[in-house]
Amino acid sequence: MLHNDQLEHWDREYFFHPSTHLAQFARGDLPHRVVTGGAGCHIEDRNGNRLLDAFAGLYCVNVGYGRTEISEAIADQARELAYYHSYVGHGTEASITLAKMILDRAPDHMSKVYFGLSGSDANETNIKLVWYYNNILGRPQKKKIISRWRGYHGSGLMTGSLTGLELFHNKFDLPLAQVLHTEAPYYFRRQAVAQGEADFVAQCVAELETLISREGADTIAAFIGEPVLGTGGIVPPPAGYWEAIQEVLEKHDILLIADEVVTGFGRLGTMFASDHYGLRPDLITIAKGLTSAYAPLSGTIVSDKMWKVLEQGTDENGPIGHGWTYSAHPIGAAAGVANLKLIDDLDLVTNAGEVGTYLNNAMLDALGPHAHVGDVRGKGMLCAVEFVSDKDDRSFFDASDKIGPQIAAKMLEQDSVIARAMPQGDIVGFAPPFCLTKGEADHIVGATARAVRAVLG
Ligand SMILES: Cc1ncc(COP(=O)(O)O)c(C=O)c1O
Repeated sequence: MLHNDQLEHWDREYFFHPSTHLAQFARGDLPHRVVTGGAGCHIEDRNGNRLLDAFAGLYCVNVGYGRTEISEAIADQARELAYYHSYVGHGTEASITLAKMILDRAPDHMSKVYFGLSGSDANETNIKLVWYYNNILGRPQKKKIISRWRGYHGSGLMTGSLTGLELFHNKFDLPLAQVLHTEAPYYFRRQAVAQGEADFVAQCVAELETLISREGADTIAAFIGEPVLGTGGIVPPPAGYWEAIQEVLEKHDILLIADEVVTGFGRLGTMFASDHYGLRPDLITIAKGLTSAYAPLSGTIVSDKMWKVLEQGTDENGPIGHGWTYSAHPIGAAAGVANLKLIDDLDLVTNAGEVGTYLNNAMLDALGPHAHVGDVRGKGMLCAVEFVSDKDDRSFFDASDKIGPQIAAKMLEQDSVIARAMPQGDIVGFAPPFCLTKGEADHIVGATARAVRAVLG
């Protein structure tokens, strides 16, 4: 085994970390951590620290760490057949079985699953399918995609454009021209503090209508949204938002892409958030929870309506020109089959709903009254606390004060709890594994309260 200092040297010298301040890390101004193991909701690092991971990695290790049911399925698959492609009618037992398992769980009007490797590539696939669809229907001008400010859909060229966070655009020459952004359903950050929730929803809808009429409905192909905003701040939409938005989309024949990379497979306490919010998506993006991140795998679930047109397209034009070497990789598929089975066997979706509600209520009780807590919000096993400098006029701290990052750092230092300082705003986010116990939820809430007292008094 290498000494830590040797590994740290290599890490700083050779490893390009994603979403990291590169210069600070290379200089040694940012800590590095080598993660060596995990069990349940905890990870362990090379220095012997045991940390409660209240963000399940990047909200992806939904069944928790150390599940041998999944690691053994991966090992068995690797021994039996580590790889074969899925082009031109080829498949493996695991990939075909997983497609069936996903469709059994998805809303009834969904038809097929295309497999990729990451949430980003699945959303790239979605946009290509939407464009193909409109070309086959003979409306080549209907191509623009509407996304929301603060939405997160990945960091590729198209998906980084769809993402509505400045950090993912700045200096990358994004967003691309075909992408339009509209208001996020972020009631807490409404411009007029006195505005009621129903009025705010009406404003979101009016903005969408204005955008559509400005651009022309005949130029707009699809609307993409996370049922609950994730990386943009963990924000459940206000009541009535999705019903009203869907009405507008249907009126203008605009497809709906539900990005369920975070919410898919149980995070809200229902198998899909589309069930929870009554969404009728044309495409659903899945990734993270599909394998609980035990192996990279993502997917695009295609509706009956779109599938018919895709079939027509290949009858007219030949095989679809889309696919990757690793589409439906058998090791990822085997992990997916074992993961979905485990979620059912342990009834983890129910636990996510019940313990998630417990966590949210306990967080609200403990943090709600604090003078600098502006909002405590969540749904299922998603929770966020947002900080303000003044509660009465809802003014925010200066970003340079880094209140959110300071609180997350204190939680780690004082109580060995990992929370996530969300990238835009002073928001501390929680998305624990579904196997979280009420005792662990209490520990997360206690750690948050202690950190807030330490940083803000
Ligand atoms: C809603 C959503 N969509 C897409 C992505 C991109 O997934 P990936 O990081 O696997 O490319 C993420 C990642 O956090 C996400 O939260």
